[in-house]
Amino acid sequence: MSFSAHIVTLFPELFPGPLGASVLGRGLAEGLWRLETTQLRDFATDRHRTVDDTPSGGGAGLVLKPDILARAIDAVSPPDDPRSRLLMSPRGLPLTQARVRELAAGPGAVIVCGRFEGVDQRVIEARGLEEVSIGDYVLAGGEVAAMVLLEAVVRLIPGVLGAAESHADESFEHGLLEYPQYTRPQQFEGREIPAVLTSGDHGKVARWRREQAEALTRARRPDLLAR
Ligand code: ADE
Repeated sequence: MSFSAHIVTLFPELFPGPLGASVLGRGLAEGLWRLETTQLRDFATDRHRTVDDTPSGGGAGLVLKPDILARAIDAVSPPDDPRSRLLMSPRGLPLTQARVRELAAGPGAVIVCGRFEGVDQRVIEARGLEEVSIGDYVLAGGEVAAMVLLEAVVRLIPGVLGAAESHADESFEHGLLEYPQYTRPQQFEGREIPAVLTSGDHGKVARWRREQAEALTRARRPDLLAR
């Protein structure tokens, strides 16, 4: 069984979007992974197809109603569904490459995309939704965040990336940012490729790359070194 993603959203027309392009799109067409969407509004019960209501206790914005969302989740994900149930939310645990790797090794994910002020806390608890954030900034909704998560996950699924786009050395795989890369021409606007990279000494190249990765990580992301 291939990795299966199911998005619950008020904007299913946004998908596959970027997930349908390039190597991910080819993998989707070849059945290396699956993508389905469900329109949350289809589970509303009133004439106006209402999915949200004002926050209890007052305040601005609207909150997704728990009963409507629960019905949508139950329709796409039975209680014994082995897939992770995610809720894209700026309140979530920050997404990491480690969680991305775990998801890519698993059966798939049901991903709820929030809009408005948030989601009623009771449905988060009752359906065991794992809140995931893609960063410390606020988007208008979870759809683009779900695409970011899926792009990171799906590229790790065997067969999606060719050997030419291998991810052995890339940023975060070893807890460091990636070292600088160069390619021809030898001289570009007066700047040379560092001599060590054209020396043919593989040991020296590996040591230089390691030093560069550590220096870059120390300067930009000291929090990664502390881990
Ligand atoms: N929805 C709104 N902002 C978000 C964020 N930063 N991460 C995930 N989902 C979101």
